[in-house]
Amino acid sequence: MNLKTLTRILQNHLPLLACPRCGEPFTLAGSSVKCSNGHCYDLAAKGYVNLAPQHDQSREKYDAALFESRSIVLESGFYAPVLDTVAGMLAERFGDRPFALADAGCGEGYYARSLAVRFPAASVIGLDLSRDGILAAARKPGDVLWLVADLKQPPLAPEKLDVVLDVLTPASYDAFQRILKADGELIKVIPDADYLKEIRQAFQPHLRQEGYSNSQVLEHLSRHAAILDQQEVRQTLPLNAEQSRAFLQMTPMGFSVPDEVRQAAELEQITLHLQVIRCRLNGAEA
Ligand SMILES: C[S@@+](CC[C@H](N)C(=O)[O-])C[C@H]1O[C@@H](n2cnc3c(N)ncnc32)[C@H](O)[C@@H]1O
Ligand SMILES: [Zn+2]
Repeated sequence: MNLKTLTRILQNHLPLLACPRCGEPFTLAGSSVKCSNGHCYDLAAKGYVNLAPQHDQSREKYDAALFESRSIVLESGFYAPVLDTVAGMLAERFGDRPFALADAGCGEGYYARSLAVRFPAASVIGLDLSRDGILAAARKPGDVLWLVADLKQPPLAPEKLDVVLDVLTPASYDAFQRILKADGELIKVIPDADYLKEIRQAFQPHLRQEGYSNSQVLEHLSRHAAILDQQEVRQTLPLNAEQSRAFLQMTPMGFSVPDEVRQAAELEQITLHLQVIRCRLNGAEA
């Protein structure tokens, strides 16, 4: 995305933003955004705004290679059923009316980008703490405002969003509650027991747990939210060699696994097993 497109998108989305240091609104001043207390953030020529400049990107484990692999997997359509389920939930609630959505932990931007195409009246923001993720997102065309930002302290104005989308990313319920309208909703996508079970098998014994259960995440969520809808996505699909390599490189499960183990592994098939949960946060203490 070039600066001209970023400036146009930013102008439309400016009322949704707030300064990450003091919470004041931003105004657009040339190629920067500025709050009334003089905190100033430059628009990056590559098509995003870095609102978390204090984050040490050199230590970020979510790096360019991981997002390239995620891109291969996502653009091949493996997660299309998740996207379709999320889009179905949004269509049911909003039809073709406008709404404001932030994809918290958007990575290389597959969901935000695709939803902006399917819902042209929506204002869509993609935010992620990894600059490599946002750089990958901003490289592809899309009517989305891309921000390097921390979802625990999102640089977003209070009570302006209709939806927060959180796909496979640790949530911050307090922060989400603050930026959602009173009738706003969270759509959270979490793994279920058989999610990527072939990778789990290939990476044993380098993983801390042998199996996976989402019961703790679900229990935590149910303390913070009323669940309005829950849909399961489950499928096992064959993989070619390139897709196998991409799956093995794209998951944070690999963070604790030696490179040689990751490189030697081969997958013939992959299981995707996830829950897509639409809920309303209730303001319970964290
Ligand atoms: C497993 S990836 C999922 C990415 C994307 N939602 C997807 O499904 O492809 C988790 C993402 O959460 C991001 N993330 C982790 N902690 C974050 C934080 N505090 N603020 C913003 N993003 C965060 C990571 O950088 C990474 O892109
Ligand atoms: Zn400020």
